[in-house]
Parts: sequence; structure tokens; C-alpha cells
Amino acid sequence: RRQWLGALATGLLAPVAGLANTRAPITLRFSHVVAQDTPKGRAASRFKALVEARSGGRITVQVFPDGQLYGDHDEMQALQLGAVDMVAPSLSKFGRIGLPEFELLDLPFLFEDLSDVRRVTLGSLGQRLFNGLKRQGLVGLGFFDNGFKQMSANRPLLTPADFAGLRMRVQASRVIADQMRALGARPVTLAFSETRRALATGVVDGTENPVSNFWTQGMHQVQSDLSLTNHGYLGYAVVTNQRFWEHLQADDRELIYQALQEALDDARQIADVQNEAALAALRQSNTTRIHSLSPSQRARLQQAVQPVHQALARRIGPDWFQALQDALA
Ligand code: LMR
Repeated sequence: RRQWLGALATGLLAPVAGLANTRAPITLRFSHVVAQDTPKGRAASRFKALVEARSGGRITVQVFPDGQLYGDHDEMQALQLGAVDMVAPSLSKFGRIGLPEFELLDLPFLFEDLSDVRRVTLGSLGQRLFNGLKRQGLVGLGFFDNGFKQMSANRPLLTPADFAGLRMRVQASRVIADQMRALGARPVTLAFSETRRALATGVVDGTENPVSNFWTQGMHQVQSDLSLTNHGYLGYAVVTNQRFWEHLQADDRELIYQALQEALDDARQIADVQNEAALAALRQSNTTRIHSLSPSQRARLQQAVQPVHQALARRIGPDWFQALQDALA
């Protein structure tokens, strides 16, 4: 009887083991628009290393940084069409695919610090934002940070009067465009990859970004002043195509998901450090004057952008603001 059981076991197990060995390799294409040496670039590399190590090389992650493959205008569409499998756009770039509620995170002077941000992104409001992605055939896999944005131009930007008449490059977010208008500037929506050149040639006068993006794009070579306004948050969501995601075997999906969560945890730890390091490098480079704001200058900027909050509330409805208030309470 034991023999019979043994034969049955081998008979049953052999094809299963065989199947495991011959499982088709998977290549996952991850496209993003920033440099490798940024919080997002580092998160993508860490994710790749974890997935490839844990799958014994059967699952490969190809990372395409710097908008090499797709830029701001087409990466989301490429994902929806299945031309890439993962992207990590800034939250400011979801409004134009019909999800304006993501622009809540763009509201100026909303968060005190990153722990405030995480109460929103890692809580039920973050989950609710992700639920909306289904309408676009997408799945949200996690949020992570770059950090707080600073303002740059060829002059200090410390009070609303300093913004008067400036053309400021913005991401495709109505909240950010409204913010620039409320400050007296003219917003110009441009893809990230076009920003440095537009600054260099005078197509725009200034922009906003965390220091890690400012530094790694070489914007310091074409902007004489950086004002440490810390006025708004820049964060990302890693999104995948629902069809791709559901076609994965459950254990592969789990492996990929776990590796991503670990990479994003790491990214959340290093975002501050990366922005600090970029600021230190910027100080050393002596290309750009760095300005701090007094509390009263900051208060004046904050006062000027208040209408932006009301305009978004009218667009997406008061219940999102209630949820935001609850998350931050
Ligand atoms: C930008 O377009 O300014 C940034 O969102 C780029 C990025 O993804 O960090």
C-alpha cells in the first residue's frame, strides 16, 4: 500500500514540479520620467533587484528611466495599451485621465510634513483614490514620496509680488496651474523632460520641484535663484494595467507586490535624505542663490493661494474634503 501511495505521489508530483520548472519567464517593463539618482529612480532599481533575486531571475524587470521610452504625455496611455506594465507618475498627472481627486495632494500649504501626507496616502483616502483607477483599467499598487517642492526662477520668489507676470512651468494639474495664477504668475504646462530646455531658452521663467529633481535635471545651471518655499507636496503612485495584473499567476503577483512594497518603504525612508543631499550639492555648486522665507512671507503666500482650495472643492465635491479633513485630524 505504501508503494502504491508512493507511486501515486510521484506520479502526481512529477508533472507539478515539471510545470514549476518550465514556467514561462516574465519581463516587466517599468517606465518613468526622472533620473536614476532620485527617490523614484532608486525605488525602481530596488524593486528590480528584489524581484529578480526572489524569482531566481525568472521575472525580469526592465527599467526605462528619464522618459527614454515614454514621457508625461504618453506613459499613462502606454500603460493602458499594455506597451509598458508599470509606471509611477506624480499624483499631479492623474487629473487629466479623469481622476481630478488625485489633485487633492497638490493643494498648496496643505501638509505640515511627510507624516501628514502618509495619513492620507496610506489610509482609507489613499484606498479610495486607488478605487477610482479601476474606471481606467488600472490598478494602484502603492504610494510613495519625493517630498516638498521649492520655487525657482531668475529672481527670489518670496512674496506674491515676486511672481507677477512670470511664466511658470507646471505639471498637467489644474490645482497647480490655479496656484500659480493665484500667486500672480502665468502657468505653462510642459512635460518634465522639456522643462530644463524651456528654462534655458526662456520659454518659461521658473518652475517648482523638490530639490532632487531640480538638481538631477541640471536646472540649477539655468536658474539663478531657488526659494525654499516648501509650499506643496510631490508624490507618486505606482500603477499597473489591470489585464496584465490579473493574468499573472497568484504567487508571481504576490512576489511582485511584496517586492514593490519593500522598495516603496525604502523609498519613503530615503526621499528626505535625497533632497537634503541634492540641496547640499547645490550649495556647493555655487550656481544658484538659495533663499529661505520668513514666517510672514510664508503666511502671505499661503494667504494668496486660499482660493485654490475652494476651486477644487467645487470641482470634486465637498465629501473629498471631508475625508481629507478626517485623515488629517
Ligand atoms: C514633474 O513633472 O515635475 C515631476 O512630477 C517629475 C517626477 O515624476 O518627479
